[in-house]
Amino acid sequence: MSKEFKRTLITSALPYANGPVHIGHLAGVYVPADIYARYLRLKGEDVLFIGGSDEHGVPIALKAKDEGVTPQEVVDRYHYIIKKSFEDFGISFDVYSRTSSAIHKKTASDFFRTLYDKGEFVEQTSEQYYDEEAKQFLADRYITGICPHCGNERAYGDQCEACGTSLSPMDLIEPKSAISGSVPVLKETKHWYLPLDKHEAWLEKWILEDHKEWKPNVYGQCKSWLDMGLQPRAVSRDLDWGVPVPVEGAEGKVLYVWFDAPIGYISNTIEVCQDQPEKYGDWTKWWKDEATKTINFIGKDNIVFHCIVFPAMLKADGSYILPENVPANEFLNLEGDKISTSRNWAVWLHEYLEDFPEKQDVLRYVLTANAPETKDNDFTWKDFQARNNNELVAILGNFVNRAMVLTQKFFEGKVPARAALTDYDQQTLEEFASVKKELETNLDNFRFRDALKDAMNLARIGNKYLADTEPWKLAKTDMERTATILNIALQITANLAIAFEPFLPFSAEKIKRLINKSDLKWSQLGSADLLPDEHPLNPPTLLFEKIEDEAVAKQVQKLEDSKKANEANP
Ligand code: MF3
Ligand code: ZN
Repeated sequence: MSKEFKRTLITSALPYANGPVHIGHLAGVYVPADIYARYLRLKGEDVLFIGGSDEHGVPIALKAKDEGVTPQEVVDRYHYIIKKSFEDFGISFDVYSRTSSAIHKKTASDFFRTLYDKGEFVEQTSEQYYDEEAKQFLADRYITGICPHCGNERAYGDQCEACGTSLSPMDLIEPKSAISGSVPVLKETKHWYLPLDKHEAWLEKWILEDHKEWKPNVYGQCKSWLDMGLQPRAVSRDLDWGVPVPVEGAEGKVLYVWFDAPIGYISNTIEVCQDQPEKYGDWTKWWKDEATKTINFIGKDNIVFHCIVFPAMLKADGSYILPENVPANEFLNLEGDKISTSRNWAVWLHEYLEDFPEKQDVLRYVLTANAPETKDNDFTWKDFQARNNNELVAILGNFVNRAMVLTQKFFEGKVPARAALTDYDQQTLEEFASVKKELETNLDNFRFRDALKDAMNLARIGNKYLADTEPWKLAKTDMERTATILNIALQITANLAIAFEPFLPFSAEKIKRLINKSDLKWSQLGSADLLPDEHPLNPPTLLFEKIEDEAVAKQVQKLEDSKKANEANP
């Protein structure tokens, strides 16, 4: 299917505002989404990149109850921490809003109402667990018990985290209320269900036939859901935190968090389009025009919601387009263990920046080079240090620095004019241009690890060029040849500012400052004429610095400490 698209809507999963964000979030969703958004913008395409906090759901309500504060206080606390972390790491959202906003409440409520009025829901009364002490129904994580699959004694009403199975409260053995600890009773309650079974036929065709190009992990998960057969899904809950169900007789009921959260992408689009209509136009063009290409960046635990449930909601409405691709990533582990907020087994982004100020790009680099694109992957501090020292410092930083310092030394910091090119010069420039094609293909297909390798290969080509031509020696005998070599090295440096901008935006900015050139576009990548003769450069400074053993040891110690704390207090 090669459609002509005029614009791209990029969404990234809305993180729950019940804790800060860590490296797993960054690696799985936000860095890849940001690379893609920056790449398309550099190409001059029309892009809207959506983010925001997911502020409803039981975990947030439970946390509030535990702490004796309101759920709104909980989400207020984390929303701003999360938002700031993303800003600090250069995640270039056009909007980062939140699902407790007034616009979202209205958008989600209207969305439900439209489906309700069209008869797209099934209403059903059933018996559900009820806590008589707390006088409350027990949905999702409000109820715990023994997992029927693996025997884990702390399984939740929606999922067992030990074996990963999704559960319903009725599956739990020896259910207990998470609020009072009491044994719940069964009581009748009415809910609205999205009959996914009725959507199965078109979903099957749309995914399994029309989107064979989706990543194997995504396609495979969809196929197994579809093969099992889809069931109606409840889209409401008996809860007091969320968007109220907008129909009569629904007092005390709210929209299920997984119904309202993806609508958050729409609400945030509406918000930014209302705030900046000149820049973004009318929101409907992003959601209702077939010429818009929608890409949803998510983690693997979100696949069924983005590939099956949300598309069914959009289709049930009937006026929305469907996503073109859903490039979900697998999980990132930390030093061999699953990242866990409750066990404090994580590298928190705000803490990272305290220990490694100004080193956002180093983390972006390591997380992309080691991204869990096709399988779960492991982050280790040793690898972090090695990639910084052996790749960023030794290859990219070294090359740029040499080109800058030599020009400073021999040509007073001005781009020297080049004379006739040798075969080797030509060959270097050609090799450079050919890597560009591969880099683009990888970016277009969401293979960011490989794309980063390509970008790094461009720096390697530069590094090798200087190592082979040795201008620092030639300068003693042949100034004309030295000038040519440095001209080419500086043109390559300017190219690196373009190639690395999607991956390492801060460093790309630094390179641009060094070469005193700000307006560089993707279409110029591969050109040997980016810097005119005599163009003045700024004084050289280092792009990256070595990370010493002590800095890394301190991080490892921090993790050891949380492991000990967990053992003492399981
Ligand atoms: N909050 C969810 C999570 O962290 C993701 C929600 S994505 C959205 O897993 F589409 F629902 F917004
Ligand atoms: Zn289990």
